[in-house]
Amino acid sequence: MKISVFGTGYVGLATGVCFADMGYTVMSLDVDPEKVDKLNQAIPTIFEPGLEDILKRNLDAKRISFTTDYKKAVDASDILFIAVGTPTSDVDGSANLSYVVSAAESIGQFMSSKKTILTKSTVPVGTNYLIQSTIKKTLAARGAKIDFDIVSNPEFLREGTAIHDCLHPDRIVIGFENEAAAKIVRRLYDPFIKNGAKMIEMDISSAEVTKYAANAFLATKISIMNEFSRLCDKVGANIENVRVGLSADHRIGPHFIYAGVGYGGSCFPKDVKALIHTGKKYDEDLKILNAVEETNFIQRDRFVNHVLAKLGSKGMGKKIAVWGVAFKPGTDDIRESPSLYAIEKFLSAGYAVSAYDPVAAENAKIQLGSRADLTFVPHQDDALGGADALCIFTEWKSFLQPDFAKLKKSMKQSVIFDGRNIYDLEVMRESGFEYHSIGRPVVGA
Ligand SMILES: NC(=O)c1ccc[n+]([C@@H]2O[C@H](COP(=O)([O-])OP(=O)(O)OC[C@H]3O[C@@H](n4cnc5c(N)ncnc54)[C@H](O)[C@@H]3O)[C@@H](O)[C@H]2O)c1
Repeated sequence: MKISVFGTGYVGLATGVCFADMGYTVMSLDVDPEKVDKLNQAIPTIFEPGLEDILKRNLDAKRISFTTDYKKAVDASDILFIAVGTPTSDVDGSANLSYVVSAAESIGQFMSSKKTILTKSTVPVGTNYLIQSTIKKTLAARGAKIDFDIVSNPEFLREGTAIHDCLHPDRIVIGFENEAAAKIVRRLYDPFIKNGAKMIEMDISSAEVTKYAANAFLATKISIMNEFSRLCDKVGANIENVRVGLSADHRIGPHFIYAGVGYGGSCFPKDVKALIHTGKKYDEDLKILNAVEETNFIQRDRFVNHVLAKLGSKGMGKKIAVWGVAFKPGTDDIRESPSLYAIEKFLSAGYAVSAYDPVAAENAKIQLGSRADLTFVPHQDDALGGADALCIFTEWKSFLQPDFAKLKKSMKQSVIFDGRNIYDLEVMRESGFEYHSIGRPVVGA
């Protein structure tokens, strides 16, 4: 079986290399020629553990190739994956479907034989039918009558473990309207199912909603813990004790119940927004999700305001060291990262910022632009020289066991604001630092 994948971002690239690794012949397409050039030279365009090896292995074996040529990619395979971005639209918080529609138009423009078209992009309910009607219109415009099937196949991979998740998905959701298409997709995923993955079959609309519901549910878990953390602050409780107490309840479980500086990334913020928008479109006020989003904003702001209240609302030559700009460890993705939000606020308040991230610094530099009061340093310790405080936004492993005595010597003031609760309070009490975290008592003040 041959497959073509449209879009070589976090999802499209992982999908392409993983299917190639399973023995399929894959042609991956992107509209960005720079990405395609790099990928054909086995240079990863994103940071993702394991990506470089699997990319090289499959390029060497000629199981995967990259192109910008839509005709070539559509002709190459009977199975086509759409994995382009669906960012938040500037207008109303809905998902911007222009990339999906453009991919569908290109497919319709070049299709010359029957195809099965799977949508991996996260798309609002009704979008697979929009893809279908777009392709039909494009075919009609060129007088072509070619049969095709659409299948919703939302992706659940996590950045930072994308390759593992793609090779070993815990579930494969497919939404279809036609048994013949389902049969093709079952065969396509057979190697994954033989490896233990579970395929869950349903109608197209339910598959579309399942993806948003999954992300909205996880975001809700994070926001409710953040809300509890605020209450803990007020009543003198410790959110970490509460978390451990909650996680022992098998109905709640241990995952996604860590309080912090708020969720970010390219999925939760945009998917919660898009689902709220879908609710509005269908005259359903999704009250919990509105609160989830609001809580997330409050959490980010509260952290920044707490830092500024402690250090002073005007920087006036003071310096803040920042550890972590990626929205979570294991990725170079900085989209909607709470760290970037905070850095911009610190800079606006007149602070100098010295930031470190093991893999996401380059992306952050591009987003924040070059300016005299912001430096990115090559080692985490370099950020600390003369700093009035250290703020931690990403729980990278290298931050977990620092030499606090060394940190103290480098910094002007021994103050840490930890947005991820990575240090033990007892350790911090002994460290001599004034330590502020989320939903736990301040120590050393
Ligand atoms: N990133 C994740 O963790 C994740 C997880 C699950 C689902 N998703 C969903 O998957 C989709 C892709 O996400 P991503 O993070 O990979 O996005 P991304 O922004 O990293 O990549 C999108 C890619 O599509 C390319 N592109 C744009 N228009 C195109 C077109 N017409 N034809 C071909 N390529 C085109 C872009 O150049 C880019 O390389 C989104 O809908 C997202 O919500 C993402």
